[in-house]
Amino acid sequence: MIAVAIPETDVLSVPAFSARERPAAILDRLWHEPAESSRSASLPRFAASASDDVESADVDVLLTRRRIALRDALGASQPVINREHFAGRRDALAQLISAVEQQRMHVVVYGERGIGKTSLAHVFAETAREARYLVLYGSCGTEARFDTMFRAFAARIPRLYHKSILPNSPEAESGGHFDTMIEEHFGPRELADLLSEITGTRVIIILDEYDRVLDVSFRRDVAELIKNLSDRAARVQLVLTGVAQNLDELVGYAPSIRRNIMGLPMRPLSMTEVREVLAIGENAADLVYSDAAAKLITTVAGGSPYLVRLMGYHAGMVALGARNATVTEAHGRAAVERVLTDWNASLPRRVQANLAREEARAQWPLLIAAARAGSSADGYFSVDDALVELGPGHAAAAVERALRQFAQPHDLLEILDGGELRFRFRYPGVSALLLMSAAMAQLAA
Ligand SMILES: Nc1ncnc2c1ncn2[C@@H]1O[C@H](COP(=O)(O)OP(=O)(O)O)[C@@H](O)[C@H]1O
Ligand SMILES: [Mg+2]
Repeated sequence: MIAVAIPETDVLSVPAFSARERPAAILDRLWHEPAESSRSASLPRFAASASDDVESADVDVLLTRRRIALRDALGASQPVINREHFAGRRDALAQLISAVEQQRMHVVVYGERGIGKTSLAHVFAETAREARYLVLYGSCGTEARFDTMFRAFAARIPRLYHKSILPNSPEAESGGHFDTMIEEHFGPRELADLLSEITGTRVIIILDEYDRVLDVSFRRDVAELIKNLSDRAARVQLVLTGVAQNLDELVGYAPSIRRNIMGLPMRPLSMTEVREVLAIGENAADLVYSDAAAKLITTVAGGSPYLVRLMGYHAGMVALGARNATVTEAHGRAAVERVLTDWNASLPRRVQANLAREEARAQWPLLIAAARAGSSADGYFSVDDALVELGPGHAAAAVERALRQFAQPHDLLEILDGGELRFRFRYPGVSALLLMSAAMAQLAA
């Protein structure tokens, strides 16, 4: 088995910096002794023995099964699509259901990438279908157009739900869908007219990744559709999801629809919810995550369900590799190091080099503050945002100068053209790496 030794870190022995002002020890090692670290790592081995020795073969088969079970339970980078693999988020699901069922509102679910919007939308859809709603799910691409997208939705609503069609009539028997009942070119008003004729069911249209649509008229048309559907008390409700810091970023320019819309922010997972995610792995692979391991994963993942799964998965694999049924803090640390290593390796070489150089190390607290400031929504942040994260004792002018230094061509940051001065990390993966590194360094302190 591959034993993962956790080397003592030298963080505390360096007097010039406090631990949280330096990159996590693992990154220092990666950046400064790349040849060493790959040479010292043990070579890969087969997971199971091919021998006919029944007893040890049984053990190996069992272990392999548990590994596969853990991968299936936690390893997916896909959104969760059923309740069985969905952890926590009871409040969010209850709010979403109540907004749709009790208040008959349209809902906008918003939050940063990876926080679980698509998963919530899928589990909500499953729940609504059980209650006999007709749920139509569509993921928006950058090219999305209002009429093509909504014609496709109309094509999934059977004509027998139109109030002009009598049950058992030839039209009802002949099948067909709502798309046959709409003009070739239509706008939100014509569509709302048609959709308000729906009877005998309620329809929920989910527009996932709403923020990705580039066409401004798409958003204007959707706002107009929401307004018209509400005015007509139609039996159709929209659920939009998107990466945004607040509701205004997604629908802010349409004040007339605000009272018909509920905003549902997705919060970081709580410790209890992280525990629930891990419990899915525990049940599948017959493992137990120790409290210390769970705490470590919670801290480093910063409430992201994606990172919880990733680290939970690797920590479980390390434990299984050591033939241990309990995932300890050391297994957790090994997993975090593994994740940081893979993450770093996935960045372009130039970016790795940019992070490793002395200027970046000297400005580590600033870079971490920048990553925090830009961690929600579209990733852009102002000098003020960075100042808030840095805490007291920093001058705006100095911070701006330092940020600008990282915003030269091919460097870590880029500047948004026009308007207020705003920065963003050129590679989104960099801020995640910085945040995980900061959490790791804090734990080592
Ligand atoms: N409630 C949850 N329980 C377990 N895993 C989750 C949950 N929500 C999200 N995840 C996991 O987190 C990752 C990101 O989720 P996703 O729904 O795609 O986020 P978003 O749409 O906000 O970018 C996925 O790998 C998904 O499996
Ligand atoms: Mg999504």
